[in-house]
Amino acid sequence: MEQRKDWWKDSLVYQIYPRSFQDSNGDGIGDINGIRQRLEYLKDLGVDVIWLSPVYQSPNDDNGYDISDYQAIMEEFGTMEDFDRMLEEIHGLGMKLVMDLVVNHTSDEHPWFRESRKSRDNPYREYYVWKEPRAGARIRPGAARPGETDEAAPNNWASRFRGSAWEWEEATGMYYLHMFSKKQPDLNWENPKVRREIYDMMTWWGRKGIDGFRMDVISMLSKNQDYPDGELKDGNPYGEGLPYYANGPRIHEFIKEMNREVLSKFDWMTVGEGVGVGPEEALDYAGFQSHELNMMFHFEHVEISPGPYGKWNNNPADLVELKQVLSRWQTKLEGKAWNSLFWENHDYPRAVSRFGSDDPRYRELSAKMLAICLYLMKGTPYVYQGQELGMTNCPFTELSDYRDIEIHRVYHEMVEEGGIPHEEMMTYIHHTGRDNARTPMQWDDTPGAGFSTGVPWIPLNPNYKEINVKEQQSRQDSVYWFYKNLFRFRKDSQIVKEGTYRLLLPEHPGVFAYERCFKGQRLLVACNFTPQYQELFLSALTEKNPEVVLRNYEETGDGKGLRPFEGIAWLYEGLSV
Ligand code: GLC
Ligand code: CA
Repeated sequence: MEQRKDWWKDSLVYQIYPRSFQDSNGDGIGDINGIRQRLEYLKDLGVDVIWLSPVYQSPNDDNGYDISDYQAIMEEFGTMEDFDRMLEEIHGLGMKLVMDLVVNHTSDEHPWFRESRKSRDNPYREYYVWKEPRAGARIRPGAARPGETDEAAPNNWASRFRGSAWEWEEATGMYYLHMFSKKQPDLNWENPKVRREIYDMMTWWGRKGIDGFRMDVISMLSKNQDYPDGELKDGNPYGEGLPYYANGPRIHEFIKEMNREVLSKFDWMTVGEGVGVGPEEALDYAGFQSHELNMMFHFEHVEISPGPYGKWNNNPADLVELKQVLSRWQTKLEGKAWNSLFWENHDYPRAVSRFGSDDPRYRELSAKMLAICLYLMKGTPYVYQGQELGMTNCPFTELSDYRDIEIHRVYHEMVEEGGIPHEEMMTYIHHTGRDNARTPMQWDDTPGAGFSTGVPWIPLNPNYKEINVKEQQSRQDSVYWFYKNLFRFRKDSQIVKEGTYRLLLPEHPGVFAYERCFKGQRLLVACNFTPQYQELFLSALTEKNPEVVLRNYEETGDGKGLRPFEGIAWLYEGLSV
């Protein structure tokens, strides 16, 4: 069968974080053969495309986002034969596989870096970013007392995992750049040899038959070559280099080249992780005429309501801001580029805890409401493992239960060096930390939650006894069934796929309402983000005799407003209400 060029537009993408999805051999770590056992589950849910977080060889400093061999499988996850079998089975079920491409950096254990650090004139030296110390400054590697930094570092940039972005190497008397952990040195994309190696590696995977790439921090490949100091903010002793490393001077040249050399040769889906990318920039990366990528992920909606320490806060999400952000992306990209729709991934807390309510009274209702709200917008829908159950943030009370390197680094810097009280920091970590999304998938209520027969690498969320696949599959009114039905509806709905978007009631603090419009048809979506009743005066709508196409309450309401966390979508012909 001839494939449509833009098949990715109406595909449902499901993200697997392999470490936490399914363990097949009882070592407590999810693996490829585990994924193979669950492919039927995904097919049955309605998944078209699997995005698999990294499974490459890695010392696991950042759970596989630090790669030491791009063409080998991490031992804990299995073998290349297991991978090939999985790919064949995915295709056999009529699904596709999108891999993670992590090429802003490698692991420091990658052979290129092992060579690079050996001497100043090693042939691999220019594969990474090495700089001299600042002239006249005293070198104080890593160590700094509160509020102090290493003045000799080439500039003041903070790593995205806190601390300096530069690591001092005594052996050759220079610093190297690492925008994430010091075990993730940044590749030097200015070097054409690096780009060639990456393109060849991508082509190798393409020939294996994969169906595309999700591109890790792709907006960060081109750095401002002057490496200017960044602004000091969010109580961070190091500077914010974002304006100099995101959307840098040569970024579009690089991605266009990648497109020419690799992407254009395959029938792929590509999605770029857009750190520091707003709608204007997205038009450059993913415009229909850009010859770069199919879509971008942005983070503006999941990063709303920051606090004095930026991402580390305990603030409720401001609905008016959320509406503005999501609507801006819908309207700015209309007719020019394609949106990606997501609430969750492996880097953010669980949506039901952040934007809905994980209070048992409202958990299921609000999980369904959030699905109605986002997935009736225009774009490709992405679901993160466990989201289809309404999995919640984890209630860890001990720092040692957390595994994420970012959490441990930020705790060290803000509590041990910065003096923020332990209890305060723990509430921030519980609210926004990445491990909230990384606890094992909850398949059933047996001791390992059906994830593993051994001890999981990270503790289970204790609520797996109530929240799990088995229980939800057995009950038609579960979040699981709601997701399944919603995506079935979406598949056949021209108005959801193609319709234009208009935000209604932009200033309403509790209700997110919008309208989609396509060929004289209208889809009205109204969602209550609060546990209170919200009066809406829906009588004008009632007169139009609308058909309710989706709703999260069993019984119809009073026609005048929305009950706690109620979400409804109506379809009708004619003029706007
Ligand atoms: C991306 C990944 C994140 C990782 C980082 C460094 O943001 O999603 O998990 O830590 O890049 O690779
Ligand atoms: Ca395993």
